[in-house]
Amino acid sequence: MQVVIVNSAQEVATLGASHCLKLITAKPETVLGLATGSTPVALYGELIELQARKFLSFKQCSSFNLDEYIGLDPSHPQSYRHFMNFHLFDHIDIDKNNTYVPDGMSDPKRSAVDYEEQIVTSGGIDLQILGVGRNGHIGFNEPSSSLVSRTRIKTLTAGTIADNQRFFSEDEFQPSLAITMGIATILESRKILLLATGVSKAKAVRDLVEGPLSASCPASALQMHNNTVVIIDREAASELEHSEYYQQVKLETEQLANNND
Ligand code: F6R
Repeated sequence: MQVVIVNSAQEVATLGASHCLKLITAKPETVLGLATGSTPVALYGELIELQARKFLSFKQCSSFNLDEYIGLDPSHPQSYRHFMNFHLFDHIDIDKNNTYVPDGMSDPKRSAVDYEEQIVTSGGIDLQILGVGRNGHIGFNEPSSSLVSRTRIKTLTAGTIADNQRFFSEDEFQPSLAITMGIATILESRKILLLATGVSKAKAVRDLVEGPLSASCPASALQMHNNTVVIIDREAASELEHSEYYQQVKLETEQLANNND
């Protein structure tokens, strides 16, 4: 796991976008794994900008989102399909037919199984973007999720429901169930970029990077993945014990890259 600490949330987005740019340039038919929530919004802004400036095209890309609420129609403003269209897909040249979000409406159990098959049929996810919940969840794999779980229905914790309440108006139905890629599904991605910003994520970041491998912090499963980059701002890094070491690795990696230019 590579831990990269940068100065601001905007730098998290810029660096995340440069990883995407590099990969999509090398492999135009990249299969992306995408997340919703507040964290990736700035990254999506950067990607839109890169495409507008013709540095990047998503024409040959496909994408799989991590999760979707059960009981929200894709047209619902709080559905993750709607979120993705609004924050990314409506502004880039990706073919929307090649963008997949789990179906939380018809038969969620069936769609969870189908989703796994669709990912395999697509050739597997090349680059998975992740945020992290304050409780260490990735996707909606809440604490106690099996570390070998596949796409399935999960009950959201009271904390996650409260954290996401800000997206719903007072009288609006807020689902407590979701379909989420499992932890094993996520770990099969060839590369993973986890982004976290702000002090509210500091404990989750500490647990995922330096804590024991444990279902109590589902994101700690990323310790078992051999191509994960964790990009965080100083606030999210504030509880890390070994941040000096991560900074040293970052400097030396940059120097090595410069020497090879
Ligand atoms: C969203 C998702 C969640 C979020 C996490 C952090 O698709 O899978 O795991 O990444 O809840 O959310 P924010 O970024 O809103 O703090």
